[in-house]
Amino acid sequence: MPRHGQLYLRDQVPPRSTGYDQGRYGRLFPGLRPFARDTAAVRESLMELGKPGGIMDAQDPPPPANPLTPNPNNRDNPNQTAGFTFLGQFLDHDMTFDPTSSLERQIDPEAVKNFRTPALELDSLYGAGHGANPHLYDQTSPGGSKFLIDEAAPKDLPRNSQGVALIGDPRNDENLIVSQLHLAFLKFHNAVVDRVRADGTQNADEAFDEAQRLVRWHYQWMILHEFLPSTVGQGLVDDILRMGRRFYKWRNEPFIPVEFSVAAYRFGHSQIRPGYIANFAGDNGRSFLKHLFDAASDHSVADPDDLSGGKRAPRRFCDWQTFFDVGPTPEGSQDLGVSPKPNKRIDTNSPARCSRCHSSRRTCRAIPSPWPSATCCATSPLSYPPANAWRRQWAFRSLVGRSWPSCGRSTSIRRHRSGTTS
Ligand code: HEM
Repeated sequence: MPRHGQLYLRDQVPPRSTGYDQGRYGRLFPGLRPFARDTAAVRESLMELGKPGGIMDAQDPPPPANPLTPNPNNRDNPNQTAGFTFLGQFLDHDMTFDPTSSLERQIDPEAVKNFRTPALELDSLYGAGHGANPHLYDQTSPGGSKFLIDEAAPKDLPRNSQGVALIGDPRNDENLIVSQLHLAFLKFHNAVVDRVRADGTQNADEAFDEAQRLVRWHYQWMILHEFLPSTVGQGLVDDILRMGRRFYKWRNEPFIPVEFSVAAYRFGHSQIRPGYIANFAGDNGRSFLKHLFDAASDHSVADPDDLSGGKRAPRRFCDWQTFFDVGPTPEGSQDLGVSPKPNKRIDTNSPARCSRCHSSRRTCRAIPSPWPSATCCATSPLSYPPANAWRRQWAFRSLVGRSWPSCGRSTSIRRHRSGTTS
């Protein structure tokens, strides 16, 4: 039960002053002028950019087509397996949470509260700790030191009588795969508690603290040694570790820049494939292969025909072998003889055809783009941002403060503002 003095995670302290930064979003570049003025024409261009069938749409065949149908816009990423998309989503939910988030809303970022601590310490898993959030924890374990797992449904997140997942962040039940990843972390923590206790730490609070520390360390190791190098490249990771950050500064405590949460870190949305094989024999002996989301599927039923989250049914679980390289099959387990599927590239070239003039982006020159390799017909005032390679370099480098990419960004912006074409 909640106890006084236990409203915060053990290693968190409440804000010190009203000028405190933590808990809010902020800006990485507060002095940077907008890329374009907010006009009806610019909004129309942005709608054009993001519309179904537009240049940002990978144009995957909709259900009932097989979601694994090859699509040249979904090229493979040789450095990552399919599960990294959901690891990236899980990381996001650990760092940022703006429940008021809407691209339509005009908000001063400094007034928007971040409901997540801007650190990779798994508050999305632990909530406010076993004292303040007892519903997340197994009250039959010593001192409530383990997470609640539903013994009647150990392959699903624990849920209340209405099916709502009892987890630290509701977004981790947003699709089946991220919910299974969350469950894997719950079980990992519990296994570490057992290990810590077996190693001699009998005091329940100490066992919890030690287990939490070890879980976080493993998680952070994974991010530093696997997620980041395969996302931004080992060179950039090494560079930051050696040279530190250049642009991202804070006064009292770290905050989440909107440039990160609303733009850069959403790169992961481009990695989502239309569908996945969740498991190999769970669907009445067949593999559970579905679209991630099928708008035509009835989501009010107990077992929708896609991989959306929030539901409990026998086939709704993950075999991880196609999502991650889990190594050799452990002794005593069945070898399914499957290998991990590659992730989708972040920096696929933008779609081959301009959505307006339907000519190849590289040949169409109605309005040249300020970026060298991404000329496209844009009868709208905004030239389209180019290949994801630019996005990837610019986004991450601006966060970490290394040199600008070679596209000559400041020149592009100037040219853009003055409306010149070349
Ligand atoms: C896998 C399926 C995913 C789905 C269905 C999904 C869906 C969403 C939705 C609906 C939002 C809120 C929309 C809004 O605020 O405008 C959102 C926000 C966001 N997503 Fe995803 N997402 C997914 C994966 C990812 C991945 C892989 C990443 C990054 C690697 C990511 C990064 C973000 C970020 C940074 C936000 C803003 C969060 C905030 O500040 O509150 N997402 N996502």
